[in-house]
Amino acid sequence: MERNKKDFQSELAKYLSEKDFVYGPEPEIYGPLAGFYSYGLNGKAMKNKIENQIRKIFKSNNFFEVELPLISPQIVWEASGHLKGFNDPIINCSKCKAVFRADKLLNETLEIDADHLKNEEIIDLIKKHEIHCPSCNGRFNLEIKRQCLMMKTTIGIDTPVYLRPETATTTYLPFKHYINFFRGKLPFTVFQIGKAFRNEISPRQNLIRMREFTQAESQMFLTKEMKENFSLYEKIKKVVLPLWTEKMQKENKNFEKISLEKALSEKILKNKAYAWNLWLSYEIIKAIGIKEDKIRFRQHFSDERAFYSDDTWDLEVELNSFGWIEMVGISDRTNYDLSQHAKFSKQDLSIKDEKGKDVILDVIEIAFGVDRPFYALLDLAFFRREADEQRTVLSLPSKIAPIEVGVLPLVKKDGMPEKAQEVLEKLKEFVYLYDDSGSIGKRYSRLDAIGTPFCITIDGDSLKNDDVTIRERDSGKQKRVKIKDLKNLLKELLNEEKRFEEI
Ligand code: ATP
Ligand code: GLY
Repeated sequence: MERNKKDFQSELAKYLSEKDFVYGPEPEIYGPLAGFYSYGLNGKAMKNKIENQIRKIFKSNNFFEVELPLISPQIVWEASGHLKGFNDPIINCSKCKAVFRADKLLNETLEIDADHLKNEEIIDLIKKHEIHCPSCNGRFNLEIKRQCLMMKTTIGIDTPVYLRPETATTTYLPFKHYINFFRGKLPFTVFQIGKAFRNEISPRQNLIRMREFTQAESQMFLTKEMKENFSLYEKIKKVVLPLWTEKMQKENKNFEKISLEKALSEKILKNKAYAWNLWLSYEIIKAIGIKEDKIRFRQHFSDERAFYSDDTWDLEVELNSFGWIEMVGISDRTNYDLSQHAKFSKQDLSIKDEKGKDVILDVIEIAFGVDRPFYALLDLAFFRREADEQRTVLSLPSKIAPIEVGVLPLVKKDGMPEKAQEVLEKLKEFVYLYDDSGSIGKRYSRLDAIGTPFCITIDGDSLKNDDVTIRERDSGKQKRVKIKDLKNLLKELLNEEKRFEEI
């Protein structure tokens, strides 16, 4: 099983590079730095689409977007607690001295969730299962140390500054401006899509564990009373989510589909506002194109949570290459962050609540990564592709596929390329690829292999009848369509408002 996963990981990595989704680790031509990747010519288009889906849903729920600097002075990270508390357990090999993240080592070798294990438990498991260094097969020094994940640099001559390890902390800093913008009306929600940096220990999992990555994190500001009294919850309380509680995990039970209403009455979830945020993260991951049967929410153990969190659930997706992997963390950060920044900045970050009392607001966060969902979509599509050995088809969701439509004159003569240009003029708003070289079959294959959902072919009849064929990627079926109807039809198909069979 493990061997199969490893094979799948390397096959997928090779495919992603060959098909211009992901290059790296970079810089390839000089010798790579682990954990740094590039999005290629197809990958960047697809990543933009994922970010835009997330942005669209946040905005439609009245969330407002900001963009903050990647670099902040040391005091910000002293206040946030990251300098002291943001570290991972590491272990090193006594022979080759390679360093590994101890919990992830167990995760990879034993396929267990080891995030919550204590140092002694990790050491016991390494001894019991005689785990050796994956690089040289040497023995580990049986001592766990902690490594800070913050990346440091300098500005000016020697002023130390840090690259942000999450977007969230920077989103809190202009809090006073938000009060002004929202005119004190609560709750309000602000999000940021941008880079974060972590000095991850031995990152070896492609886009899953990078040292420079993209987050899309929302922060909902509200009072403690509002968490219980949250009207949006009423509309979604019957929704059922796959929840894997701390208790179920301890009892080795599988996750269960539980309604939010029941989860609250049984105190599985602590409050209505949190339940609503959990639901929203589920909506977003589905909108990106991940299917429900691949998703679960895993509650953090009480001794596993980040230092700022009162309750955290990870939205995990089951991958063919790495098993269940966290895509999103949803945390109740209480009033920890604003209290800390008020204390360290000596600014008043309180606000008057409904009763006129000065309070420091709580924050509920949806911490979305962009790279992991990107990788997940390709992992799932690539796995499905393997099932059909006749054709190499990457069944990416239409709204996420990097190239939306291929435009192909049947042959490079008899007025067909000119007619194809006429068609292209009408399709400028789509991401298209014009291809007139090689046999039509080869051209279809090239576009199928990068997940292009539709191809338009211009043939001899197109010149006479002003029509073309439209071909669907997954079924390979073709239909005849008038050129004048193409634009609207493609829009409907790409937005999944119409199915191909309905044409
Ligand atoms: P893990 O336990 O796997 O290290 P984490 O708990 O550190 O993840 P969070 O701190 O909750 O992750 O970060 C929020 C989101 O940011 C994650 O769900 C993930 O999508 C993304 N993320 C975090 N670290 C990385 C990374 N090194 N590379 C790519 N994405 C990341
Ligand atoms: N903002 C949550 C995290 O990145 O850890």
